Amino acid sequence: MTSDNSEFRVGLLGHGTVGGAFAELLPRHAERIERITGLRPSLSGVLTRSSGSFEEILAGSDLIVELIGGLEPAREYVLAAMRAGRHVVTANKRLLSHHGEELWELARAEGVQLRFEAAVAGVVPVIRVIQESLAGAEIDRVHGIVNGTTNFILSEMARTGSTFAEALSEAQRLGYAEADPTEDVDGSDAAAKMAILARLAFETPVHIDQVRYDGIEHIQPDDLEYARELGLGLKLIGTAERIDGGLSVRVHPAFLYPGHPLASVGGPFNAVTVESEAITEITMSGPGAGGPQTASAVLGDVISAMIPPASTPAAAHRLEIVQDVVSAFYLHLEVADEPGVLARVAQVLSDHGVSVKSVVQKGLGDQARLVMVVHPVLESRFDAAMTDLAGLSQLLRAPPRAIRVIEEEFA
Ligand SMILES: NC(=O)c1ccc[n+]([C@@H]2O[C@H](COP(=O)([O-])OP(=O)(O)OC[C@H]3O[C@@H](n4cnc5c(N)ncnc54)[C@H](OP(=O)(O)O)[C@@H]3O)[C@@H](O)[C@H]2O)c1
Repeated sequence: MTSDNSEFRVGLLGHGTVGGAFAELLPRHAERIERITGLRPSLSGVLTRSSGSFEEILAGSDLIVELIGGLEPAREYVLAAMRAGRHVVTANKRLLSHHGEELWELARAEGVQLRFEAAVAGVVPVIRVIQESLAGAEIDRVHGIVNGTTNFILSEMARTGSTFAEALSEAQRLGYAEADPTEDVDGSDAAAKMAILARLAFETPVHIDQVRYDGIEHIQPDDLEYARELGLGLKLIGTAERIDGGLSVRVHPAFLYPGHPLASVGGPFNAVTVESEAITEITMSGPGAGGPQTASAVLGDVISAMIPPASTPAAAHRLEIVQDVVSAFYLHLEVADEPGVLARVAQVLSDHGVSVKSVVQKGLGDQARLVMVVHPVLESRFDAAMTDLAGLSQLLRAPPRAIRVIEEEFA
């Protein structure tokens, strides 16, 4: 395939934020990469919407880097490149969370590498660590802050007391949020990344449709304020964990106590915590996005692909996907100024087996609020209690609000 013994030709699909940064990075590091690998990489062609031919780029390349994004034509190009015996490097979480099994199966069949470090948590080397460094540990749980936009917004709301809309426009002004931030703030971007992490950590195929997710659009500034008094900080947390012999993968806002390793990860940073009996807990953190940062993770994959052996995920076995899980909750009730409200609320909670861990009562009269943290309970039970609480309309001034709490603290 190579044109001469020492040249390694890289075909680039996409020349946007990440592709453009990659095209600048590759020639700058070519000499150093030649010293490491014995091969000198060069860009053999670039495809955009308006220029370049995929067939010509493929024919003239030893490896294809896919930085177009989205499902098609990225899927078609990645499949064609692997069928033609080329290694592929991609940063495309959407593609892998929808079609990962098809792509990995073809990579195994063709004996080529499909590398995707930049698809999850940007430059944080979480894929490599789970696939290679922790291959000897049975992983019990992965928690991740895998979306920098939402982490910035929540950090900003906590720091300044601003509303979600105000913090979002600040994120857009600083370049941490897209003009259309929907997939970030509704949790679906994080869900795609957690589907990929879960697949690797638990060797179970996870399609994005099997990941339950919630966004941060509904978070109110006073939730952050009151929770701080209970010692809690809010993050958008992705979780993949073994439960009852199955696997639960989900993304939702969750409160953390300060001892949790993800509690101090602020601003646009990403971080992933891996837990296993063998290793206790490992946390990796760093920039989760940005052209040059992501491009450097892509280039790391290119270099790895130039040096065997391959590290395509092994064929999957299957854990059952679990949807109803146990969680602690923060509960916020705007209550009417009437006697017996607390007793009535406590009765509803106890009817559903929900027990209160801590409670603060705020304000008086028209401002009265009950803010509490409840002990871990099956989500379906808590949801039923929420439905009954919402029915106490004469005692509440607004619908009840709840956010999950992750209880663990690590010494
Ligand atoms: N941006 C980040 O910080 C970041 C971080 C981690 C992962 N990623 C992932 O990296 C990938 C690229 O993201 P990006 O932000 O660089 O995207 P982008 O700025 O929108 O760039 C996309 C590039 O792909 C080209 N393209 C789009 N559709 C095409 C088609 N049908 N045929 C040929 N070329 C096409 C575009 O061509 P034109 O130039 O002609 O428009 C553009 O050059 C995505 O999978 C994304 O999820 C991005």
